[in-house]
Parts: sequence; C-alpha cells; structure tokens
Amino acid sequence: MAMIRFLGHSAFYIEGEGLKALIDPFLEGNPVAAAKSEDFNDINYIFLTHGHGDHMGSTVEIARKNDAVVFTCNELAGYLSSKGIKTEGMHIGGRATFPFGRVKLTPAWHGCPIIDGDEVRYGGVACGFVIEIDGKKIYHSGDTGLTMEMTLLEHENIDVAMLPIGGYYTMDIEDAARAVRMIKPRVVIPMHYNTFPRIQADPEEFATLVGEMFAEVKILAPGEQYIF
Ligand code: NI
Ligand code: MN
Repeated sequence: MAMIRFLGHSAFYIEGEGLKALIDPFLEGNPVAAAKSEDFNDINYIFLTHGHGDHMGSTVEIARKNDAVVFTCNELAGYLSSKGIKTEGMHIGGRATFPFGRVKLTPAWHGCPIIDGDEVRYGGVACGFVIEIDGKKIYHSGDTGLTMEMTLLEHENIDVAMLPIGGYYTMDIEDAARAVRMIKPRVVIPMHYNTFPRIQADPEEFATLVGEMFAEVKILAPGEQYIF
C-alpha cells in the first residue's frame, strides 16, 4: 500500500515498503504547510527537485536529523555532500534501483540555483522524479513549464502524477491539463498553487479542464492523503 500526503505547496510525504520520504520539504516559512520539520523523525529519503527556497526548504536540517539520503541532480547533490549530507546525485533520464524500488530523474523546464547565504551558484538543472513505491509509479514534476518531454512519460504508466497548476513560475491550469493528456496518469494531484498571491489557481477549474476521461483529479487540501 502506497501513501501520499500533501503538506502544502509542492511538499509531500510519501510512504511505502522500505520508503518514508519527503519531496521538496518547504515547511518552515510555507504559509500553507501542514507539518513542521520536527514532525519527521524516521525519514529515510528526501527527493529535491531544485534549489529554489520554496522546494529546498528544510532539506538540510531534516536530512541531518534523520540521517536521510537526498535524491537530486548531481550538481546540487555535490553541494549538499559538502555540507555532510548523504546524497544520490543522479541526472536527467537516469534510472537506478534502490531497496524500495526504482527512481528516475525527469527533465523540468526551470532554474536550479544553489543559494548559499548571499551567494548564488550554479546548481545544475531542475528535475522531476518518477518514483516506484510498492510497485506503483508516482511522478512529481517539480517546477516546470509544459514541455514536449512529458509525452515520453506516457510509456511509464504513471499511477499518480503531481503537477504544478499555479502559473507565473510554472504551468497554469490550461498547460497542466495539456500535460495530463500527454502523460496519461491514472490520477493527478495538483500542487504549487494558492501558496502565494502570484500563483492563485482554482483546482476545480483544473479538474474540469482535465475532464473525467483523461485522469481522475484528486484535490488534496494540505494535510490530506491519498492511499492507493
Ligand atoms: Ni522553483
Ligand atoms: Mn517553486
């Protein structure tokens, strides 16, 4: 049994056999966060899509406290390693097998800085993840615009896709609905909306645009979970 809990913005807690993980743990300073870093004491992995603060969040603190391994693109992983964090520095299109299942990094059309105090450095590229939990496949796109690369995900047979719908920095509801038609997941969970004034979006309108025949849209309020 696989479980996905929405923690607000693009942050999720995911759980399955051998996996207790956070994705983009922006919890402190997140106005809609449904959890705090200190709530997590047995996390074994963190999936980090890119270096922006609203995704990186408390990655370093949580990874340290839980002795968790951080999956992210190789350049950002190098930076985290220099901070004493355990990492899996994979790269776009790469897939590998881990005790809980396989992980693949997918392209995301977005920036990926390393923000270290006042300094901003090259952090490689932003990514998304295809993660296997209990034999099911989930896709967290990270921050991205609509890209043709998403058509390749149709062949992954994604069970649950988490896609941004807020616009301004990422896809809006129209482009996200087009992404759903390209990816063809069984279920889609909208994310990255209504956290800040610039990314206001109506998830019900997104569900209407997706249409029932393309995917089931699960709108999760922060703190709600989906078991599958
Ligand atoms: Ni971003
Ligand atoms: Mn973002």
